[in-house]
Amino acid sequence: MESSRPLVLEPFGVLHPILQKLPEFLVRRLIRRGVATQLRYLYGLSAEEQLQGLVNFVQNAKKMPVMEAGGSFRDELYDVDFFKLLLGKHLKYSCLLYEDPSFTDEQAEEAMFKLCCDRARIQDGQRILDLGGGYGGLAMYTAQKFPSCQITSIADSRVQTEHIQEECRKRGLVNVEAIDCDITSTKITQTFDRIFCIGVFEHMINYQKFMKIVSDLTSEGGLLFVEHVCHKLFAYRTVNARNILSFSLLTTGNRMLADALPLYFQDDFVILDHWRVNGTHQGRSCEAWMRNLDAKFDQVSALFAKAYGEDNASKRLAGFKSNLLVGAEMFSYNNGQEWFVSHKLFQKRA
Ligand SMILES: C[S@@+](CC[C@H](N)C(=O)[O-])C[C@H]1O[C@@H](n2cnc3c(N)ncnc32)[C@H](O)[C@@H]1O
Repeated sequence: MESSRPLVLEPFGVLHPILQKLPEFLVRRLIRRGVATQLRYLYGLSAEEQLQGLVNFVQNAKKMPVMEAGGSFRDELYDVDFFKLLLGKHLKYSCLLYEDPSFTDEQAEEAMFKLCCDRARIQDGQRILDLGGGYGGLAMYTAQKFPSCQITSIADSRVQTEHIQEECRKRGLVNVEAIDCDITSTKITQTFDRIFCIGVFEHMINYQKFMKIVSDLTSEGGLLFVEHVCHKLFAYRTVNARNILSFSLLTTGNRMLADALPLYFQDDFVILDHWRVNGTHQGRSCEAWMRNLDAKFDQVSALFAKAYGEDNASKRLAGFKSNLLVGAEMFSYNNGQEWFVSHKLFQKRA
């Protein structure tokens, strides 16, 4: 770990001091109250104003660079020792699917891998790109289930790429390639039959430019499967640290997407199918990660102390946990019917 660099995003400030002083159940209550207040405000807008807000968001996005300057946090966000303590066995850093309430976290990781493969219409023999593939859980799952597929996992992270390469060596998987590169400036000229794009839209701010980049990597007639967290109706910026609706853990773009938002960016793709995954699955994923954090508190604290120094470690850790708490409460709010996970299948335009 490079100790001079931050391990995680600077999380939103408002809960730091509170979290450290109040019992967790009170912090949770506070988050729920904040969420309710903001939803009352948003739903208090007229139907015309609600739509205008979304349209303005779309128009503004088109004027932006594809990612915010410095939006790629590279290795500081993705220290593998920390994520091995935080996440499940497959190091999936996006929504798990608790299809059966009795599922373990590992089963829930695999259930979501399977759902994504089904919805992306994966078949043996295809060339697949996992764009923003994280620690390669989905790439390795797909490689095992579909041994004649060739899978490339791209992430702007050396530690993630090295982790995948090492795991594939250990498991004898020869059909996975991991590449460390920034997708916004990639020189890759190969094209793919299927593209997974899971937890990546949240890092982008110009979805039009991003879709064009992805389209250049897609074969004629190829399909793009997208997963992103979202609100049912509202897209909003979360730069305001006091905005309780921020959930910056999975994003660097400081934006919460609306479910419909990517549908406004179909210059290069056309939508084929569209699903919602109830927000309680994302909420429960955050709860699972929080449990791991608590259970391995001493080891995590030592890692944070090494990265930030003793003085800052507990504040940073409290901040990270406050983000998980927001995620847990926000996605479970109103039985997962407000914020949830969106799945979309696009086809490259002819
Ligand atoms: C929230 S993680 C999701 C990881 C993985 N898809 C999963 O579900 O576990 C976001 C991923 O997007 C990658 N990413 C973000 N911006 C990127 C960029 N400009 N170029 C390449 N990868 C990027 C990160 O490195 C990370 O792997």
